[in-house]
Amino acid sequence: MQASLIALATELKRLKAAGVKSVSVSEESLDALRRVIATRNSVSTKSATDRPVVPGLMVQSPAAPKLVAAAAAPGVVKADASIPPPPVIVLPSGDKAARWAALRERVLTDATCRAHVRTGKQVVFGVGHLDAQIMFVGEAPGAEEEVQGEPFVGPAGQLLTRMIAGMGLQRSEVYIGNIMNWRPEIPTASGGAQYGNRPPTEQEMSYCLPFLRAQIEVVAPALLVALGATAAQGLLGFGKFRALGEVRGQWHEFAGKPLMVTYHPSYILRNPTNRSKRLIWEDLLKVMERAGRPISSKQRDYFLEK
Ligand code: URA
Repeated sequence: MQASLIALATELKRLKAAGVKSVSVSEESLDALRRVIATRNSVSTKSATDRPVVPGLMVQSPAAPKLVAAAAAPGVVKADASIPPPPVIVLPSGDKAARWAALRERVLTDATCRAHVRTGKQVVFGVGHLDAQIMFVGEAPGAEEEVQGEPFVGPAGQLLTRMIAGMGLQRSEVYIGNIMNWRPEIPTASGGAQYGNRPPTEQEMSYCLPFLRAQIEVVAPALLVALGATAAQGLLGFGKFRALGEVRGQWHEFAGKPLMVTYHPSYILRNPTNRSKRLIWEDLLKVMERAGRPISSKQRDYFLEK
């Protein structure tokens, strides 16, 4: 744990030196930090999330409403030589299933994706119905996802599945993908297990974006939903907004499809109030309306304060 914390602090210092003002950290990493801080400093009353791990660099969980885009200083971060220019994806002819299977194979065997995945972990490709009307787009695989090779299977994913059920759909009826196909690495001192998550860099996202575009082309959903600030940044473009609140709850466009931007489910995990649930739910009601899905009065009133 100590080694991982040192590696995390080193990475945060590197990001800070590169001009990054805030980073996202998963719930599990925050829990790990809280445990260490609690045992080291049991007299402090300040929460782990309030305390800069590296002085001057605040750690925020992903998709917090006031999350400042990680690309606040475009061009400051040095190019990562391990990431070539974005690939050009040529889809084979054939039916949807054949095209999707070929694309999946292309991504899972992609040399750059594989080079960024630790031994025993997996590149993660999208899942769901190939005729899905709605495609959800998240940020990047986390610890559970890189083990199971499927997007959104950890705690945030379980909540996403419940949100989809609230819309009157099953997870298997929608399509779920990510901006990134590998879990963005945080170097560990001894190459051991990675505890934290970090948001992908602009270069990493740019590399993986053609894979997502190709999934959109194959599945051809009617609507896209970006989950959280990072996904929104990837789809709308770096530097297009500073805080998620500027773009959420509104219709945008990506790859010729209407795109709704909403909070990441992990935001609700951190703020499980009716107010935050209602905010995300109102965005999903807009998606249901635009998709022409039936909405009962019970669904319309979910999470309204009584
Ligand atoms: N968060 C994401 O954005 N994507 C996943 O696949 C899991 C968690």
